[in-house]
Amino acid sequence: MPPLTVAQAGIFRISNELPVHRLGFGAMRITGDGIWGPPKDLAEARRVLARLPELGIDFIDTADSYGPFISEDLLGEVLHPYPKGMVVATKGGLTRAGPGVWMPVGRPEYLRQCVMMSLRRLKLDRLPLWQLHRVDPKVPRDEQFACIAEMQREGLIDHVGLSEVKVEEIEAARRHFTVATVQNLYNLVNRQSEDVLNFCENESIGFIPWFPLAAGGLARPGGVLDTLASRLGVTPSAVALAWVLQRSPVMLPIPGTGQVQHLEENVAAAGLKLSPDDFAALDLQGRAEWDKQRRAGP
Ligand SMILES: NC(=O)c1ccc[n+]([C@@H]2O[C@H](COP(=O)([O-])OP(=O)(O)OC[C@H]3O[C@@H](n4cnc5c(N)ncnc54)[C@H](OP(=O)(O)O)[C@@H]3O)[C@@H](O)[C@H]2O)c1
Repeated sequence: MPPLTVAQAGIFRISNELPVHRLGFGAMRITGDGIWGPPKDLAEARRVLARLPELGIDFIDTADSYGPFISEDLLGEVLHPYPKGMVVATKGGLTRAGPGVWMPVGRPEYLRQCVMMSLRRLKLDRLPLWQLHRVDPKVPRDEQFACIAEMQREGLIDHVGLSEVKVEEIEAARRHFTVATVQNLYNLVNRQSEDVLNFCENESIGFIPWFPLAAGGLARPGGVLDTLASRLGVTPSAVALAWVLQRSPVMLPIPGTGQVQHLEENVAAAGLKLSPDDFAALDLQGRAEWDKQRRAGP
């Protein structure tokens, strides 16, 4: 059997420059419940991180607010000095007041502190990709974007990404800096960012779908992907990830897990090519599910 790696997912060049394999890892799940405090099984979380380079994963997404700080600290502890070519992308601009509580703060002095502290925790001189976790509605967005552009000019940040934004906000940010990536909620059964994805594809901006497994819902046996997964002899999570990978060449999924077994199941998606018929059938099924959810309302 060939070794399990993400190689077959192919490569995307962030800003036409920085190469990463298209199947990455989301480091939010190596923290406690409510993304607060340390994970229940710290030894297993460390094993997950140590396994990443062995699987060829060179694109890791984290944020200062995961834990807070736990995820970045663990990455620095287990993976530094990072293998050549590994890109640890982080985010800032969200504060935490308890489990499951997230509040944006976009004042320039706070964004600068986020960047300075991420550099320290990740043990880096420059952040290869720093993403504004949320645009703070209480602070003029041009102030937030101008401060980020300045930090990029100073060499603290190489590439800049945004998270949970609309096309109009991407265009406003592009007046200050090149938008390298956009990280929005997207998966087979949640299509609210379809227009943003299409925009990113046209503009060669990396699109990082968060919740690619619908927070685990798409990985559960008995779910919408079970029949196809059984026929193909793979896990439902691999089908969910193979579908997003095939949906667009700019797609950079970052499935999250705190378990080595789940990590390996997810990496298997890199080698899974859905036939055009299977892809189209899933697409229809996913859209129908999304329409149903929208009709049901919040
Ligand atoms: N920009 C944003 O606002 C934002 C918001 C949320 C997340 N994110 C980023 O996106 C990444 C992905 O999102 P996510 O982790 O919330 O959601 P996800 O990847 O859709 O799902 C993760 C959940 O699914 C479970 N899971 C993973 N692989 C599985 C498998 N093979 N079989 C069964 N269950 C599996 C995990 O539990 P186990 O740990 O038990 O495996 C975890 O609870 C995060 O890690 C984070 O980096 C960004």
